[in-house]
Amino acid sequence: MIETIDNTKEFKTWSGDMQTRIEDVLNAHLPDTKISPMRLHEAMRYSTLGGGKRVRALLAYATGEFCGAEQEKIDTPAAAVEMIHAYSLVHDDLPCMDDDDLRRGKPTTHKQYGDAMALLVGDALQSLAFQIISQDKLIKNATQKLQMLHILALASGSRGMAGGQAIDIESIGIPLTRAELEHMHIQKTGALIRASALLGAYSTDHLEQDKIEAIDHFAKSIGLAFQVVDDILDSEADTQTLGKTAGKDQLNNKSTYVTILGLSAAKQLASELHANAMAALSFYGQEADLLRYLANFITHRSS
Ligand code: IPE
Ligand code: IPE
Ligand code: MG
Ligand code: MG
Ligand code: MG
Repeated sequence: MIETIDNTKEFKTWSGDMQTRIEDVLNAHLPDTKISPMRLHEAMRYSTLGGGKRVRALLAYATGEFCGAEQEKIDTPAAAVEMIHAYSLVHDDLPCMDDDDLRRGKPTTHKQYGDAMALLVGDALQSLAFQIISQDKLIKNATQKLQMLHILALASGSRGMAGGQAIDIESIGIPLTRAELEHMHIQKTGALIRASALLGAYSTDHLEQDKIEAIDHFAKSIGLAFQVVDDILDSEADTQTLGKTAGKDQLNNKSTYVTILGLSAAKQLASELHANAMAALSFYGQEADLLRYLANFITHRSS
């Protein structure tokens, strides 16, 4: 069904094209380094451009296509989630959080620009994400635009990414139960992945409730799978492949799916979540194939 060589090739071409596209869109939305404050703008660009798998943007493009939205309408929402994501990484790497030196194969933002500037990069990227959606002329329906801003705000705040990060930091050295770990992962990573998928879906002019529900179900499973695989890679992959320091969770005394379940059960869980995500699309045919490829990519990725 999905893992034939042809299909993989098709997905590689599509994802390569979309990665180039989102890079261009981000580049256009980020303030120029010639505009004051130049160093902040340079650091925002350093943190956002030229790296990352762009999974969140890919998800937005894939769900948008599934729902019949034109690609141009997905550009700004996709860029907005990538900005929130980049901000979360810059803050996640700070010495007061995970204290990491390497991100996307380069020195982390605070290593390159200092802690204060890294803090401000996160702040400014977060604001810019909401600004670009609010001023997007392609989303004509004001109610829909408001709904998109609401989705992104909820996913980023204390009931989403920031909340999950708070639990992560507060539970250092304290082993979490499986239910607590699931809750933390759903918030810190799952929420923004889910928002990416929903924002793509809301980019169409003709919302179809059955598709939105299928996407939501799909995204919840694949969002959790994403962080389960991140935990597995942290313990199994090497720094060069990851572009970030391997083995950091153990070093920082974090509860992860690897520490709570063990490596083999964590891998089993990732496949179960992948199967759940696929099941959410079972009523759909080829029109959902991009989402299926993405689910495969998220589950079987090497970085
Ligand atoms: C890393 O996210 C942080 C998590 C939420 C697990 P990604 O693995 O998507 O990072 P990039 O964007 O590809 O660098
Ligand atoms: C971070 O999780 C999730 C975010 C909200 C940024 P991790 O701390 O595991 O992400 P990495 O492994 O540093 O990318
Ligand atoms: Mg972290
Ligand atoms: Mg981290
Ligand atoms: Mg990690």
